[in-house]
Amino acid sequence: MTDFIPVCEPSLLGNEKKYVLDAVESGWISSAGKYVSEFETQFAEFCGVDHAIGVCNGTVAIHLALVSLGIGKGDEVIIPNFTMIATAFAVCYTGATPVFVDADPNTWNIDVNKIEEKITKNTKAIIPVHIMGLICNMDEINRIAKKYSLYVVEDAAEAHGATFQGKKSGSLGDIATFSFFANKNLTTGEGGMVITNNKELALKIKYYKNLCFPLEGAREYNHDDIGFNYRISNLHSAIGLAQLEKAEHYTDLRIKNFKLYEKFLMGIEGIYTQVWDEKIYKHVHWMNAFYIDPKKFGRSRDELMSILRENGVDSRKLFTGMHAQLSLKKYGCKVDNEYDSTMNLSQNGLYLPSSSHLTEVQIEKVCEVLKRAKK
Ligand SMILES: Cc1ncc(COP(=O)(O)O)c(C=O)c1O
Repeated sequence: MTDFIPVCEPSLLGNEKKYVLDAVESGWISSAGKYVSEFETQFAEFCGVDHAIGVCNGTVAIHLALVSLGIGKGDEVIIPNFTMIATAFAVCYTGATPVFVDADPNTWNIDVNKIEEKITKNTKAIIPVHIMGLICNMDEINRIAKKYSLYVVEDAAEAHGATFQGKKSGSLGDIATFSFFANKNLTTGEGGMVITNNKELALKIKYYKNLCFPLEGAREYNHDDIGFNYRISNLHSAIGLAQLEKAEHYTDLRIKNFKLYEKFLMGIEGIYTQVWDEKIYKHVHWMNAFYIDPKKFGRSRDELMSILRENGVDSRKLFTGMHAQLSLKKYGCKVDNEYDSTMNLSQNGLYLPSSSHLTEVQIEKVCEVLKRAKK
């Protein structure tokens, strides 16, 4: 089908090819090489923080952040119930237990009013996840963290360049993590970053990322702690640097596309998206995500997805809640709530085509199919 609209493709519109070729020709294709350090330096600048450490994906970035904070067995870490599974798994890798808080029905982010009831003497950290590119209410999260002496690790995998009160995602807690998977607003294919303003933590992150090789001195094969090989390659970083050069452009495209969806879907009963205050939040729309009210829309989400597919439009379901994951139940996570908001989003939510380079004609087509599907 030639005019099939995929749900999300990377936009590689700048120096990606040139830099990758340069890296190949230089022979620096593993984790040493100028693109790694340049990508790290420029990403730190982009986020407005002092330190950025490149890693091989967004999942290990979260793991590494938690390791550097000393989180492990017997500890609890509060995470949103509505998130991508990587947030929870990264906590499990440390031996700690993820504790789930339902989503706010308006923002879809962690419900800040439900965090305190989940804090116990074992709680060590909160991981706010900036869902779909909308930053959490970080004032409230930092207030709670301060009150109970908890660390804050922002999972900003979906929110490159988003802002809260003018401050960039990743600059609002103790440490933050990013993913550069192919569908992200900025991509390296596979890749991730851990960022912080804390020099001591940055050094620990570098140490654990590279199998706990000593950070200084001649290379000796003596390792004082158990480390990980979470290095990012020079090839991936070459793509990352090229993406970063056009970060503003990609962000603007994502925002413009979302506004087109809003325009074309206006007035259709039974379809909703996140709610936020534009004066406080700059939402960067990783995905154009919506949920439907099946009664008002006249069809279920799954019926709608089939109709979209039959008409050449790809879409995806929103995340299944952490409380419903067999893996996490087997791990011993407690499921002691109804998680109504998460259930609504995972049963009725979908995301529509979201590539940065979508055209207005394509977005209009998606919305026309959706309008015709409504009963
Ligand atoms: C919220 C969140 N955290 C973590 C990740 C994991 O990132 P990666 O796929 O790069 O490991 C993702 C990926 O989509 C994500 O959406």
